[in-house]
Amino acid sequence: VSRQKRVVMGNWKMNGSLSSNSELIAGIAQRMSQIGGATDVAVCVPFPYLSQAADLLKDSGVSWGAQDVSARESGAYTGEVSAPMLAEFGCRWVLVGHSERRSLHGESDAEVADKAAAALSKGITPVVCVGESLEERDAGQVQAVIERQLKPVLALGDDAVARLVIAYEPVWAIGTGRSATPEQAQEVHAFVRGLLPAGAKGIPLLYGGSVKPDNAQVLFGMQDIDGALVGGASLVSKDFMAIAEHG
Ligand code: G3P
Repeated sequence: VSRQKRVVMGNWKMNGSLSSNSELIAGIAQRMSQIGGATDVAVCVPFPYLSQAADLLKDSGVSWGAQDVSARESGAYTGEVSAPMLAEFGCRWVLVGHSERRSLHGESDAEVADKAAAALSKGITPVVCVGESLEERDAGQVQAVIERQLKPVLALGDDAVARLVIAYEPVWAIGTGRSATPEQAQEVHAFVRGLLPAGAKGIPLLYGGSVKPDNAQVLFGMQDIDGALVGGASLVSKDFMAIAEHG
């Protein structure tokens, strides 16, 4: 199976300001020269800052994305942002189904798949986030939960799946400082890889959940971990780029 490039992606969540973003982006762009071409580095920023990211990251080698997208194209959907709008800002990526969207906004597995399809239809790569809660892990339901979350996504068809990125983010490891062990993450990544259709086995599978400079290298050493989706550490350019350098 030929693998695509390693991907190290920052998820800023609801953080930032015009001035702090420009400082953060300058730090990222400056360190980009040390990365070489082996790793795709990207940041997913809050909607209002897409145009700022697009301006400041142009020609930096760093790509940008959004943290959510509507499943619909246009119309009476107050507060939503469509894939055609994101495409206008040069978005290359969009997170869909982040656990914070699933838990705080009640996003269903089916809706997450619809969002992925909407992104794909505009040439934007969806980063489909999946992951179990601690309760589900303790109940031995990890694989059942991941399989349930991915089912409608896999039903989009083999061609669609071949254009996705999937991020495994165990809910108990997000923002807690408690990363999954490399073995725990690898086990789930191998399981996810096994669910993929033949033509899509090589899509990037990212791990997310308390990825820091000091645990990135060993995580990236695991066979089925192709990169990281980084929350807290992506807000500090030195830390974020140290993670990318391990790629
Ligand atoms: O999407 C990334 C994220 O949920 C992980 O956050 O802060 O644990 O790196 P953090």
